[in-house]
Formats: sequence, structure tokens, C-alpha cells
Amino acid sequence: MRRFVVIGRLATASADFSLTNLPASSGRLDVLLRCLRAALLVSHGLRRDTIVYLVLLGGPDAPRTVRVDGPTARFVRPDERSLALMVRTALGKPLEGPGFTTIRNGIAVAAGGLDAVLADLGSGARYLLDEEAPDLRGLALDAPDPVFFLGDHLGFDEATRDTLRRIGATPVGVGPVSVHADDAIVLVANELDRREASRPG
Ligand SMILES: C[S@@+](CC[C@H](N)C(=O)[O-])C[C@H]1O[C@@H](n2cnc3c(N)ncnc32)[C@H](O)[C@@H]1O
Repeated sequence: MRRFVVIGRLATASADFSLTNLPASSGRLDVLLRCLRAALLVSHGLRRDTIVYLVLLGGPDAPRTVRVDGPTARFVRPDERSLALMVRTALGKPLEGPGFTTIRNGIAVAAGGLDAVLADLGSGARYLLDEEAPDLRGLALDAPDPVFFLGDHLGFDEATRDTLRRIGATPVGVGPVSVHADDAIVLVANELDRREASRPG
């Protein structure tokens, strides 16, 4: 299983944003929704081997994390408005205590941020996507169940970097140019796809 964790420093954890003015009303949740699309959706389908965590650190209800599970998610559409509606509906439901509450097939929400994600992750190599880091093409990337952490349009704050350092996340880059987080996800997924396709057996 592949996992992508996107940290939205201002992205709203409440359901009170406007679908017609998403960037301005949601703390740039649109950035995270594009990451969700990039990680989970392929032409004519969903990646069943991928789980995405959107960590929402903005607004009075923060922190909250929305988890979308590729193996079980259904009716996930690629357009930003549909994804926004899906997340807004999930954020509007009551949560049932610690950990992730399943809202519907493949969609779960937790009342927590990076801490909730770390508690939910199983074993597996951790990678921190960082512009300054060595290129991931130089890495074996063959450990099962890799987890990739990304920043939003503002990048990581220092506390998040410290936590990721503490858990031993390996910094990796996807090339010499700082790209949008969703594009960084596509580059990682493509690299993993190529490695898997060329592996014998
Ligand atoms: C738009 S970038 C953040 C830019 C922000 N101004 C900063 O300085 O961190 C969003 C995220 O995408 C990932 N990213 C972008 N370009 C990358 C690259 N060349 N290598 C690795 N990660 C990258 C990083 O996780 C970054 O936090």
C-alpha cells in the first residue's frame, strides 16, 4: 500500500466553506483536493493501492484529518468541486471519539492532525518530500508500504519538520524545481509505477 500525507497549514477543518469560492473560503483546501486527485485517481479509475491523508490545520475546528482509502472508496470524481463536496460532507458529520470515524465507504475523519495520522499508519518506510533533498531516483524505494509526507503551498512548518525528523522520515526530492504538491505526488507515483512495472515476477 502507498500512502500520501499532505499537511494543509491553513486548510479548513470545518464544513463551512463555499464551493463556489473554494480557495478564498477554505484556507486553500483546493491545494489539498488536487493532491487527493493526483494520488488517488487515474484515467478511468481509482488507485486501489493508495491511501491519502489530508491534514487540515486551519479554522476553529482544527486539527482534523480526512482519510480517503483507495481500496474501498467509491464514487470519487476527479473534479475539484465534487471532491470539495465530498470533503465538506465528511467534515459535517459527528465524530465518534479517538481515531478515525468512518463516514462512508473509504472516507474517514479524525479529530487530530499529524499525531492522528502517525497513530493510524502501520509500519513502512517514511519519506519527507523536500525540494532540497537528494533525488528519489537514487533510492531503492523497494520497502513495502511507503509513506510520503508533503507540504501545501506554504511548505512544512518547523514543528512538522521536527516531528518528521524524529520519526526518521527520509528526505527525498523529485527534481531540481519546486513544483506544486499535486505534481510532486504524480512524480512519486509515476516513479513507483515504473519500478513496479520493471520488477521481475
Ligand atoms: C509548492 S511546494 C511548497 C513550496 C513552499 N514555498 C516551500 O518553500 O516549502 C509544496 C510541497 O511539494 C513538495 N515538493 C515540491 N517540489 C518538490 C521537489 N522538487 N522535491 C520534493 N518535494 C517537492 C514538498 O513537499 C513541498 O512542501
